[in-house]
Amino acid sequence: MKRLQDKVAIITGAVNGIGYEAAKTFAREGARVVLADFDQESGETSQAQLAGMGYNTMFCQVDVSSRESVDQMTRNVLDNFGQIDILINNAGITRDAMLRKMTAEQFQQVINVNLTGVFNCTQSVIEQMIAQGKGKIVNTSSVTGVYGNIGQTNYAAAKAGVIGMTKTWAKELGRKGINVNAVVPGFTETNMVANMPAEIIEKMKAQVPLGRLGKPADIANAYLFLSSDESDYISGHVLHVDGAIIM
Ligand code: CAA
Ligand code: NAI
Repeated sequence: MKRLQDKVAIITGAVNGIGYEAAKTFAREGARVVLADFDQESGETSQAQLAGMGYNTMFCQVDVSSRESVDQMTRNVLDNFGQIDILINNAGITRDAMLRKMTAEQFQQVINVNLTGVFNCTQSVIEQMIAQGKGKIVNTSSVTGVYGNIGQTNYAAAKAGVIGMTKTWAKELGRKGINVNAVVPGFTETNMVANMPAEIIEKMKAQVPLGRLGKPADIANAYLFLSSDESDYISGHVLHVDGAIIM
């Protein structure tokens, strides 16, 4: 029996980086995966690749920062698949700048996607999960949200907020059969990190006790565990997948 057999999983930010790796992992484990992403071009390519592997997935273009767009996605998913078992709030952006230079727009853009986006998606699917009597929600935070990072006022605020929402929702939704957990990735090899100055990447890497950056599969495997029945008695947990950079 596959670990997510017959489950319907929405993964936001699913057509690049960690989200795409998670989409492949979840599909391999039997889930019907909704690739929910802003990026139409990569969305169509990723959807075609997964269909070519024989997986039952759908691409849904969505801007998680827009409630209207998110509600449209939820309606689409229910029309196509009839249920929602898993939500992985993985979409995220950076707009790095030192506090002294950060514009109000840079601050707000990151809050809108990385914090309000998580609220929008969760609130949009929650009535369906409550009606089903079971659900799994995994929110993506970051080491930056736990220990801060130079140049990331906006991002650290949003990712710390994600941990607060996770714990609140675990308390509110536990009695409805819904588990809510957060994953805290360390620096992981995706475009998000590739865009950082090379010398800062090397400095970060040197601080990781396990001696390397994360790989998308490291994070996808944590999403999988927290979405499977194996974690049924785990909720409100903040799981670091960071090579022990924070202990
Ligand atoms: N550690 C130590 N010093 C640092 C530093 C760091 N991480 N980052 C910047 N500084 C220092 C610089 O050396 C520089 O020092 P001096 O004034 O003595 O020369 C000073 O701070 C100003 O830095 P910059 O010249 O780089 O300033 P800038 O305005 O041109 O750029 C920045 C600022 C955009 C924040 C740039 O430094 C940057 O991109 N830093 C990387 C930010 C980062 O780590 N982002 C993580 C992205 S990955 C991610 O977000 C995933 C996740 O969840 C972890
Ligand atoms: P990525 O940049 O490779 O992928 C992010 C995806 O989110 C993209 O497909 C993008 O189109 C999508 N997206 C952006 N804005 C969106 C919006 N408004 N609506 C819908 N989709 C949107 O990034 P990566 O590295 O795969 O990051 C995934 C998650 O992991 C993010 O939440 C990120 O903050 C978090 N994270 C990443 C770390 C890293 O080192 N790569 C470390 C810690 C956390």
